Amino acid sequence: MVVASEPRAEPAQAEAPAPRPVIGPVRWAELPAVARLQARAFRRGLAYRLPTLLLLRASPGVRFLVAREQGRVIGCAIGDRAGTIGRVVNLAVDPDVRRRGVGTALLAAVEAALPGGDMLLMVEAHNTAARALYEHAGYLPSGQAPNYYGRGHHGIWMRKPRPQGG
Ligand SMILES: CC(C)(COP(=O)(O)OP(=O)(O)OC[C@H]1O[C@@H](n2cnc3c(N)ncnc32)[C@H](O)[C@@H]1OP(=O)(O)O)[C@@H](O)C(=O)NCCC(=O)NCCS
Repeated sequence: MVVASEPRAEPAQAEAPAPRPVIGPVRWAELPAVARLQARAFRRGLAYRLPTLLLLRASPGVRFLVAREQGRVIGCAIGDRAGTIGRVVNLAVDPDVRRRGVGTALLAAVEAALPGGDMLLMVEAHNTAARALYEHAGYLPSGQAPNYYGRGHHGIWMRKPRPQGG
């Protein structure tokens, strides 16, 4: 008697892990790529263009970080300090690589580059993605800025308490 053999199970294909982004200070040569990232990440009028990015890169008090994956710029975080307060000036992640923790990692990196004292930022009220990210990172709404981003586009101040000493 011939018994039909069971179809052989394929060996499980191990999914290749996503490459880990590396975060570090932006290089001058990467600024055009950051400008393209800004244009992809933000709506017209909110994206930083190359001249602004050059100025930020040249400012000694500014912490300007990028996330790179296989040499490609996939995100950026820009921060500075106003007195004892650290400020997140800009945070953007390429739309192709979102929801992989890159924004969270960039935010943590820019906070670490501005040690000590509370952190402060402004986010557009209807930007639910960014607000959720900031809340997860310990930021709390601390005020409103009506029409900050244009008529009907309100801003929300968010603040993260941190000890003065770091
Ligand atoms: C906001 C932004 C930076 C998030 O980057 P990201 O790499 O996708 O963020 P993360 O993967 O670290 O997300 C962390 C958490 O934030 C929340 N979050 C992020 N994107 C979200 C979305 N589209 N909807 C709801 N929650 C979201 C989630 O809680 C997420 O955790 P989870 O994926 O485990 O659920 C990115 O969407 C972006 O560049 N947006 C356009 C530019 C912008 O708005 N910048 C902020 C200006 S203030």
